[in-house]
Amino acid sequence: MTFVVAHRGYAGIAPENTLLALHAGVAAGADWIEFDVRTTADGVPVVIHDRLLGRTVPGAGPVAEVRFDDLRSRDAGGWFAPVFAGVRVPTLAEVLDLLAAAPGPQVLLEIKPPATGDEVKAILAQLTERGLVRRTVLQSFADPVLHAAAELLPELRRGVLREGLDADPAAVVRAHGAVFYNPSLADVVGDPSVVPAVAAAGAAVMPWTVNEPAGWAAALGLGVGGIITDRPAELRGWLAAR
Ligand code: G3P
Ligand code: CA
Repeated sequence: MTFVVAHRGYAGIAPENTLLALHAGVAAGADWIEFDVRTTADGVPVVIHDRLLGRTVPGAGPVAEVRFDDLRSRDAGGWFAPVFAGVRVPTLAEVLDLLAAAPGPQVLLEIKPPATGDEVKAILAQLTERGLVRRTVLQSFADPVLHAAAELLPELRRGVLREGLDADPAAVVRAHGAVFYNPSLADVVGDPSVVPAVAAAGAAVMPWTVNEPAGWAAALGLGVGGIITDRPAELRGWLAAR
């Protein structure tokens, strides 16, 4: 079985990381719902990808320097299509409430750096409050985030995100006690030995972000455990038709 991972929700049809996109990912039958968490200047964990305002939300400067009420007052949907104008950046609490009420998919929660230990602690507390720890994998490009999580909540599964492969991915997986090692598809194609090496260390590779059948076929041919995609319904259909 190859996992279908809805990247930033169903980001192909709705503005990424919004409740609409996340709900659409659930409705598409994704096995995992992926999204990105940052923390506002006043300590509210929110679901947004970019470090800076400007692309998906009007403005400039870091999300980490904007207060929640200010961020919430801005449009997070109109950039994608006019029909989505007025959609807002969700809080992590709203996203976790949505996913807690949708028992199907597992939760692939990415914490974007920089994140302080206290911010990681507050995010993990929200998982615990909703009984979502066993359904969730925390992934990050930032090793300090993974280390903090391992210390705070060891039973929460962890995934290593990478841009560029480590010299010894299996050693990295073992060092983190990770269940996923997720590089870009280009990196996996560039060195397919990463897939069996990571499997031997007890983890799976799920490359990002693969949106076309040629890429899905390449990933499958390399034996990946899942595929992270903006088009989960299309990937689900493609897998079923094979
Ligand atoms: O899940 C992997 C992927 O989301 C990592 O890249 O930039 O889309 O967060 P990014
Ligand atoms: Ca992400």
